[in-house]
Amino acid sequence: MPDHGAGRSSGSFVAVGLGMMLGAHVTPRARSEIQHADVVFVLVSDAIVERWVQEMRADARSLQPFYAEGKRRTRSYREMIEAMLAEVRAGHRVCGVFYGHPGVFAQVPHHAIAQARREGFDAEMHAGISAEDCLYADLGIDPGTFGCQHYEASQLMFYQRRLDPSAYLVLWQIGVAGDRSVSRFGTGPAHRRLLIELLVDEGYPLDHEVIVYEAATLPIVEPRMDRMPLSALVDADLHLQSTLVVPPARPMARNEAMLAKLARLEARLDSGA
Ligand SMILES: C[S@@+](CC[C@H](N)C(=O)[O-])C[C@H]1O[C@@H](n2cnc3c(N)ncnc32)[C@H](O)[C@@H]1O
Repeated sequence: MPDHGAGRSSGSFVAVGLGMMLGAHVTPRARSEIQHADVVFVLVSDAIVERWVQEMRADARSLQPFYAEGKRRTRSYREMIEAMLAEVRAGHRVCGVFYGHPGVFAQVPHHAIAQARREGFDAEMHAGISAEDCLYADLGIDPGTFGCQHYEASQLMFYQRRLDPSAYLVLWQIGVAGDRSVSRFGTGPAHRRLLIELLVDEGYPLDHEVIVYEAATLPIVEPRMDRMPLSALVDADLHLQSTLVVPPARPMARNEAMLAKLARLEARLDSGA
């Protein structure tokens, strides 16, 4: 454990991300936080990545055992936060290491930071490379071209949202779409049929091409970019690390009323009125 000298009495918390690809995406800042923390907790996508962190910090503690099939994820998250906060309260400099970006579709880092701050400790997050960043690169998508909507797949099903089929749609946690128990490691065709029904109602045709995307997590593997009609999603091979990308299904419609208002405004400004 690094020695930071005597006199430091209050703990702190920092959340860092490793990016998606093992060893290739970690920022110098994240690496430095991992090396200099008193206590390191790690919650990453697989055991190889966890071992990689443990090569840097042999004493890194895994948060993975807090998960269990059938146990509500919200309970696991509370226990993870509590484990990290206990070390902060004990006066330690604590680093939480997460895969991807620690603040993207990740409750634990956000809640741990908020809790630490409520208790008067210093807490911050450093950005990392998320699955979203990788998908823009791998699929050649620029979110600025047509706009891009991101939803957690189950949340999209549980709440009334308004989708815009003229923009990209990215659905996270598609592998557990519709899991009301928040405790499964996967849902199946019956849940997916309901999601497809919802997307069809929102204007996406059944034959519209969608992409099951999985960023490469090792330099020796290729990203998964499986294109299929929306209807084929029912039987698609989906995992916890799958993200669904739905390209626009219709062209953007010009907002003629706003364009006319802008033209009138510009004419007024140009005439100096
Ligand atoms: C709890 S979120 C964590 C996201 C992570 N914090 C990030 O920055 O990308 C888990 C979801 O991220 C997406 N995800 C995780 N690993 C992925 C990968 N290798 N490729 C594509 N999406 C991935 C999936 O939608 C998955 O269900």
